[in-house]
Amino acid sequence: MSHFVDAWNASYVRRENTLFYPSEAVVAFVNKNIRRRIGHDRFDREFASPPRVLDLGSGAGRHLRFLCENGYHPIGIELSSEACKQARALLSHSGLSDFEIHESDGGRIPIADASVDYAISVATFDSMTRLDAASSAAEVYRTLKDGGLFYVDLISDTSARSGQELAKGEFLIDEAHEHGTVQLFYDKDDIDSVFAAFKLRSRRLHQVLDDQGRVLSARWECVFEK
Ligand SMILES: C[S@@+](CC[C@H](N)C(=O)[O-])C[C@H]1O[C@@H](n2cnc3c(N)ncnc32)[C@H](O)[C@@H]1O
Repeated sequence: MSHFVDAWNASYVRRENTLFYPSEAVVAFVNKNIRRRIGHDRFDREFASPPRVLDLGSGAGRHLRFLCENGYHPIGIELSSEACKQARALLSHSGLSDFEIHESDGGRIPIADASVDYAISVATFDSMTRLDAASSAAEVYRTLKDGGLFYVDLISDTSARSGQELAKGEFLIDEAHEHGTVQLFYDKDDIDSVFAAFKLRSRRLHQVLDDQGRVLSARWECVFEK
């Protein structure tokens, strides 16, 4: 189990990542790559059964709820017991039951080989050490079916946060927000190395700049295929 579990539990008790709306990029990934919503209750294709979607670092459950509400069977993998508790409460409050949440390290996913159709991971592969990112990537690869797509977003090394550098690009955060957790910053080579087993389908750098052109935040949004 990651050394950072206590820091993540404390962060969720402070409700720092207790979010209720899905990320726009996840909505776009699902709508563009899996099936498009074309009406109040209509999509451009029917599923024979709900596709199984792994959400690595599912947090307080915002993407589990979005996936469940749109005809998928989401499987959350989450280190923090407090986050898992908040996610279960969110889905149950929404009247949803066709989902799984496993309190588990991403480097040891308790599900079978090639048993999920798609995978997503939002702001998580950058919230762990490089070693944990490598083992989590290997686990996504193992559990995904051949040809399955994997959406992942990552903080770019053109962004900065306050913390002590433990190893290249790997910082122990000393800001109040997510205090005591790790932030791993990525450039293109880091992405190629951590996700080397996958085929890169697309990689977008989403940057927010101020009026002087300085980067306020920058994130990579990647789609991989097994
Ligand atoms: C910034 S939060 C993002 C949560 C969620 N994906 C979202 O978008 O709301 C990062 C998450 O990664 C989880 N995490 C960090 N290291 C992990 C690991 N080794 N295995 C599984 N989850 C991990 C944390 O507990 C936290 O929930």
